[in-house]
Amino acid sequence: MFDNLAVLDQGESVLPGQHLADRLSIPCFKNIDQAKQSDIAFFLCYRNGCLTLLDQQLLKKGGMRVEVDPRQGEQHSWPAPKNNQFALALGKKTVSVVDATTGWAQDSLAMFRMGFQVTCIERSPIMAVLVEDGLKRLAEKDWVKNRQLRLPKLIQANAIETLATLDETPDCIYLDPMFPPKRKKSALAKKNIAVLRDILGDDVDKQQLFAAAWQAAACRVVVKSPDYAEPLGGKPNMVYQGKLLRYDVYLKK
Ligand SMILES: C[S@@+](CC[C@H](N)C(=O)[O-])C[C@H]1O[C@@H](n2cnc3c(N)ncnc32)[C@H](O)[C@@H]1O
Repeated sequence: MFDNLAVLDQGESVLPGQHLADRLSIPCFKNIDQAKQSDIAFFLCYRNGCLTLLDQQLLKKGGMRVEVDPRQGEQHSWPAPKNNQFALALGKKTVSVVDATTGWAQDSLAMFRMGFQVTCIERSPIMAVLVEDGLKRLAEKDWVKNRQLRLPKLIQANAIETLATLDETPDCIYLDPMFPPKRKKSALAKKNIAVLRDILGDDVDKQQLFAAAWQAAACRVVVKSPDYAEPLGGKPNMVYQGKLLRYDVYLKK
């Protein structure tokens, strides 16, 4: 199914790597030398209790994983204060949000920490297994267990089709699709997002995704865009401007 991806099984997980490889229909390597000698660019590997994504540079050490702890500078309380541009864009009265472009789930998890009820949709099976692993780790956090918080629900599917079939209509649908970079090699793109682009490419069907979100949201659609990109749904009702990005807000009523 994926030409450029394999599992590297270093014996760290209770689940054999072959299990994951079979699920994604990709090869499984048993050691780093095998992986290095292959012409495969990316690897899924359990390291320090997390499922991580590696490229050839990260084979020896490190790896990219879904980070479930609060971001640097973010308050470690729950719910975190809703006093930033992102929260304002999502709306003061919003309770439920569907993140239709989950990716590394950093926005989903920020919404979860702010107390929103979050549903995550991600179409890439690779990203979905990484998010699934992150949500398992999140469930084990004391602050989540002690408060018996309802964890984000993950749906692995194309949101363009799935948004119309949700059990409950969400107040808000949040979109952060992949836009082409302004320059060919954007030094500003974080490594994990750059890798996402290398594996998945740009989301060329984002216009259809916006149309599906507009149909399925009860109150608003929020689109995160780089500052150079045209608004996805025409002129937005409100714009919350950040440093290099903005949130375009489309209100239904
Ligand atoms: C730029 S990333 C999102 C990053 C994310 N906001 C975060 O905090 O990590 C875009 C992600 O949306 C996913 N995606 C794009 N279009 C989608 C669709 N129609 N249905 C589901 N997922 C989609 C891509 O597979 C990719 O993982």
